[in-house]
Amino acid sequence: MTNNSDKNVIRKMVYNNLKISMCGIPAMAFLTFLFALILCLGATFGEEQQHICPDPRPLGCPQLVCDLMNGRETNVCDEIQCEGITSEDCIASGSSYERGLTMCGCCAGCAKYLDVGDPCEVSPPAPTLDPNCTDSFCPILKNRCKPGLECNYLGQISKVCSMPTAGGSGSSDQENTESCDYKRTLGLVKTLHWTPNCELDGTYSPKQCKGTIHDGICFCADSDGNRIFGMEFWRKAENQTCACSRRVHALRAAGNIAAIHCSADGNYEPLQCDMDSGVCYCVDPETGKLNGAVLPEHQWRNLPCYSVNLTNWDTTGEYLRVCDSEWTAGQRLYKEATMHGLDVVAVKDLNCDFDGSYAPVRRVGAEWYCVQKDGTIGPHHQLLEESRQDCQCYRDAILYSEAGRTFQRVCDEKTGNYGAVDLFEPITNLYSCSDKDGFFFGDKVEEDYVCCLAGDCSSRPENIRAKCYNDETKSGFRPCSSWIT
Ligand SMILES: *[C@@H]1O[C@H](CO)[C@@H](O)[C@H](O)[C@H]1NC(C)=O
Ligand SMILES: *[C@@H]1O[C@H](CO)[C@@H](O)[C@H](O)[C@H]1NC(C)=O
Ligand SMILES: *[C@@H]1O[C@H](CO)[C@@H](O)[C@H](O)[C@H]1NC(C)=O
Repeated sequence: MTNNSDKNVIRKMVYNNLKISMCGIPAMAFLTFLFALILCLGATFGEEQQHICPDPRPLGCPQLVCDLMNGRETNVCDEIQCEGITSEDCIASGSSYERGLTMCGCCAGCAKYLDVGDPCEVSPPAPTLDPNCTDSFCPILKNRCKPGLECNYLGQISKVCSMPTAGGSGSSDQENTESCDYKRTLGLVKTLHWTPNCELDGTYSPKQCKGTIHDGICFCADSDGNRIFGMEFWRKAENQTCACSRRVHALRAAGNIAAIHCSADGNYEPLQCDMDSGVCYCVDPETGKLNGAVLPEHQWRNLPCYSVNLTNWDTTGEYLRVCDSEWTAGQRLYKEATMHGLDVVAVKDLNCDFDGSYAPVRRVGAEWYCVQKDGTIGPHHQLLEESRQDCQCYRDAILYSEAGRTFQRVCDEKTGNYGAVDLFEPITNLYSCSDKDGFFFGDKVEEDYVCCLAGDCSSRPENIRAKCYNDETKSGFRPCSSWIT
């Protein structure tokens, strides 16, 4: 028997999701479609039709689609126009995007799994529709724990979804702990302090965001999740695609020298010049697609996308920026020199950002320095062989001040990086771990206990050491390095 809520589900699917392209369907199937549609809207389903489809029919598989699939040789999915649910639609309802979830496996949908601490069953019940949902992107409640979680006993009474126990069942051991999907799950269950965006193929999306829409940032990343050039404050990042950053990153990785300019957020600058072919043209900033006229290089200022202030940090007003020009000249010199059997080292170490400015870390003599976009040398420096330096904190301090925002962090004196431990809350004097992008996570501790987070309390009084590492009760603070980041 079909109950009322099931019928509602089907109606919702028919009205919101199902747009069958009529021309692609032969007359017989079209009649079946009409017949089934009438049945859907009526009180009962046709008896003969029902036995063909599995009983119970899976959720998100309307009777008529199921029947079409059973009655025909050709691929029914080809004729179903899915509603085009995107991962953003799912994130908005706190669920995850899943392919083949609705329309009997033809269309994507939003799936909502159980979180850490939610009661669960080892043999979970069939998926159900979210009864509270009113919009057209209703998630399907999977009634099982999120991928990566296990349904375990906590205490004696009930089972709840929890993180896999160390050395526990095999499936979690095989999980790639660096994969985007795994980290995303950790983020959604709040075990990780941020939630990465993943592509359908499991790679990291070009745009990643940390913090909240009010205080957070969005930045560009390569497909492995490594941060690359391009950053915007989250509340202004609506149109950020990072398409330019991804493109330039790929070109450089393949050994190509790109004269493509990205804007600070990682999108394309509207005006691009191709020095090799000697032309300049306008592009769509979000996609990089040609958008209007193409002019010879020397006429670039006549392009409709030209503006006096191409960048706010380069005052020369030329297409090639300071670092760009130095780099281009250096490359010519390098080619000449190698032709004559000379070795020019300095040129190889010059690193321009994707907007043509100097990259944050610049080699000056025998040291690395943090530099401003125009190459001006800042106070942070260390010897060439010392540990990794990204100057992220140094650069953010400049950026925040330009944006009129307060910046309360203290950068690492030598590297200009964010310190692994920093003042979290100036009023209460609490400290916390910081990630390399400056976002706090994990335990908050008073100043005395900062050594706990840094992981070395050997020179501290016994009572502090005891609080840091109480192995017996497992109640001590965890050092930053032991959090999953
Ligand atoms: C539906 O809403 C009610 C009241 O807001 C809430 O108690 C319940 O947990 C919600 N159910 C689901 C499945 O989200
Ligand atoms: C994003 O693009 C839309 C459409 O071009 C525009 O109306 C909107 O102001 C842009 N948002 C931001 C933050 O620039
Ligand atoms: C360009 O920048 C200068 C200095 O920041 C500013 O005074 C001027 O108004 C800007 N011009 C345009 C067209 O935005």
